[in-house]
Amino acid sequence: MTVIHSPSADILLGLRAMGLLPDSAAVAGEPLAGGVSSDIWRVELPSRGAVCIKRALPKLKVAADWEAPVARNLYEARWMRQANAAVPGSAPALLGQDEATGTLAMEWLPPERHALWKTRLRDGHADPAFATEVARRLVRIHAATAADPALAACFPTDTIFHAIRLEPYLLATARAHPDLASPLQELADTTAATRRALVHGDVSPKNILAGAAGPVFLDAECAWWGDPAFDLAFCLNHLLLKCLWTPAARAAFLACFDALAAAYLAGVDWEPVAGLEQRAARLLPGLFLARVDGKSPVEYLTEEADKDRVRRVARPLLAVPVDRLAAVRAAWAEELEQ
Ligand SMILES: Nc1ncnc2c1ncn2[C@@H]1O[C@H](COP(=O)(O)OP(=O)(O)OP(=O)(O)O)[C@@H](O)[C@H]1O
Ligand SMILES: [Mg+2]
Repeated sequence: MTVIHSPSADILLGLRAMGLLPDSAAVAGEPLAGGVSSDIWRVELPSRGAVCIKRALPKLKVAADWEAPVARNLYEARWMRQANAAVPGSAPALLGQDEATGTLAMEWLPPERHALWKTRLRDGHADPAFATEVARRLVRIHAATAADPALAACFPTDTIFHAIRLEPYLLATARAHPDLASPLQELADTTAATRRALVHGDVSPKNILAGAAGPVFLDAECAWWGDPAFDLAFCLNHLLLKCLWTPAARAAFLACFDALAAAYLAGVDWEPVAGLEQRAARLLPGLFLARVDGKSPVEYLTEEADKDRVRRVARPLLAVPVDRLAAVRAAWAEELEQ
C-alpha cells in the first residue's frame, strides 16, 4: 500500500504564496531523509509534476543548542540564482521562495540520475575528473560574484554565518583545545573580515549531486558574502576525512584533493592566488580538527584512535601555520603511512 503524506501547513502556505499551488488544490508528497536543518519534501504539483520543497527549521536537528534564523532560506534561494547565472546547472533551478514561511521550491532532481557524491566516495568511487569539475564550477561562481561587489548587499548574513559556521566549527574547537584558542580565534576573525565573493558555506560531498551534466551544488543555507577560501578549505577537508572512512580508496581521495585544489587555484582571477591559498591552507587544519572536536563531528569517525590521527596532524599545523595546501596534504599522507 502506498502511503500518501501531506506536507505541513507551512509548506502549503509557502507554495500558495509562491503561486505554485491554487488555493483550493490539495497536494501529496513524501518527506526526504537526510536533512538536519530543514524539512525537505518531494511534492507532486498539479500544474508541473514533481518539485522539491525546502523549509528551514529554526533549530537544527543535530544539537539542541544550535539555532539558526529561518531567513537563511531566502539567502539560499539567492545563492541558487547567482550560481545558476554564473554556471548554468550548478544548482537546481529555483521555482520560488517565500520569506514568511522560510520555504523555497526548486526543480526535482531524480536520485536515479543524481547520485550523492558522498555516497560515491563512501563506496570508494573517487574520481579526480569529477573533483576537478567541482572546483571549476565553484571557482567560476566565486569569480563571477567577486566581479560584482554590489551583490554583497544581497547577503547580509554575517550573523548567520557566525552562528552556523564560525562558532560551531572554529570557536567550539577553540574551547576543546584551549592551548590553540588563539590561532583558532584568529582564523575566525580573519575569515569574518575577508569580503571577496559569494560563499556557499557548506561545500560538502553530502551537498553535491553527480548529474549527467556535472556537479550540482545543494544546500546553500550558509550563503555569505565573505571569504571564498572557506568553501575551498571546507570541501578539501572532506577529502582528507574520507581517507579514514574508506581507507582502501585513500590514494584516490588524495588524488581528488590534488585535482580539486589545482583546478580551483587555476581559476582564481579576483585576487593574488597565493593569498587565497594561504587562507585556505590555514583554515583547513582548523576545519579538520573541528570535524572531530567541534559541535558537528563527522558521524563516521567513531574510533578514538582515528580521532587522534586527525588531532596529531591538525594541532601542529594550527600552532605553526603553513602557506600551501600541499603542506597540509603531505602532513596527512605521512600520518596515514604510519
Ligand atoms: N532539488 C532536489 N532534488 C532532489 N533531491 C534533493 C533536492 N534537493 C535536496 N535533495 C535531497 O535532499 C537531501 C537534503 O537536502 P539539503 O542538503 O538541501 O537539506 P538540509 O536539510 O539542509 O540537509 P543537511 O543539513 O543534512 O545538509 C539531499 O542530500 C538530496 O538527497
Ligand atoms: Mg545538506
